[in-house]
Amino acid sequence: DKGDYEHFMLKEIHEQPMSIRDTFRGRVAMDESKIFLGGVLDIMPQLIKAKRIIIVACGTSWHAGLVGEYLFEKYGRIPVEVEYASEFRYRDPIIQEDDLVIAISQSGETADTLAAIRKVRETGATILGICNVAGSSIARETDAGVYTHAGIEIGVASTKAFTSQITVLTMMALLLGSKRQVLPASEYKELIHELIQVPSKIEEILKQESEIEKIAAVYKDVTNALYMGRGILFPVALEGALKLKEISYIHAEGYPAAEMKHGPIALIDENMPVFALAANDQSYEKMVSNIQEVKARKGKVIAIATKGDKGIRKMADHVIEIPECHEAVSPLLAVVPLQILSYHIAVMRGCNVDQPRNLAKSVTVE
Ligand code: M6R
Repeated sequence: DKGDYEHFMLKEIHEQPMSIRDTFRGRVAMDESKIFLGGVLDIMPQLIKAKRIIIVACGTSWHAGLVGEYLFEKYGRIPVEVEYASEFRYRDPIIQEDDLVIAISQSGETADTLAAIRKVRETGATILGICNVAGSSIARETDAGVYTHAGIEIGVASTKAFTSQITVLTMMALLLGSKRQVLPASEYKELIHELIQVPSKIEEILKQESEIEKIAAVYKDVTNALYMGRGILFPVALEGALKLKEISYIHAEGYPAAEMKHGPIALIDENMPVFALAANDQSYEKMVSNIQEVKARKGKVIAIATKGDKGIRKMADHVIEIPECHEAVSPLLAVVPLQILSYHIAVMRGCNVDQPRNLAKSVTVE
């Protein structure tokens, strides 16, 4: 049931404050000092001693995996590889018994992801699933699992499943950091607190929908778009581009901002919109210069920036503000305006938002 919403996708975008709360409900101590993940208790010894994490997934779930890579390395101090399940399964990957393989899948039925974990099965490595659909094939074929609890997702374009996957990955990375004694208790607590604040910050972003819709109206007829981000927001650039292309059929690409100079910057002229993710503190200055480079070539810049950022406002053609937050949780906020933008652009172009052409909700054939 779509309730008061015109499409499932819009409903699911708006459900995110609730779905994220559902993801961490019962998994965070009242005093915010600890995370409990019942699903990983049985494999905790393997988690603590794992030498490496390999994440396998497809599409949006693969993007969540890239955010996970950043979080696991930063807060868990463990090396991570993120693989397209389809590539991984047909290589001759080197998997060791002390590797932890994490399969991320909303549906739990994606053929390539399922085949990838079956391949791992033969090696003795521990397999953990992050799925949304309870009892799905991937959930059943893993040694342990953490459900995302995002609720049923109907729109083919994944939205709330993505933010719930990232919420689980954040909790796992923090838990791992604490158990491996590489994350000080004070930072652990601070980051848990930041995560708990995310739903109400997303509510703030959702309130700006009519302004975002106005920006959508300006760019609805473009034929190409670029998305750029750095660090933990680079995967969000990929996800923003995927959202736009799959539902509005506009050609879009996501890039790490520093890669622009290695090719894509040649595409920039007055007709090219560039969505710039400029809300993380670590790479802020560098993003500012990337935005200047785009402006110098007359590109249009739509920046996702921290509330009150006056500098970016002077340079960009449009700014969508997100509330101030810790960098660790910035993907959860920064993706929301991009989802809303894609949605409205697709609606204005008369596209079938919930069931885009040529796509299925779950890809059960390779
Ligand atoms: O069910 P899964 O998470 O395994 O699905 C993976 C992809 O097929 C999926 O994320 C796809 O890319 C979506 N259409 C993205 O919006």
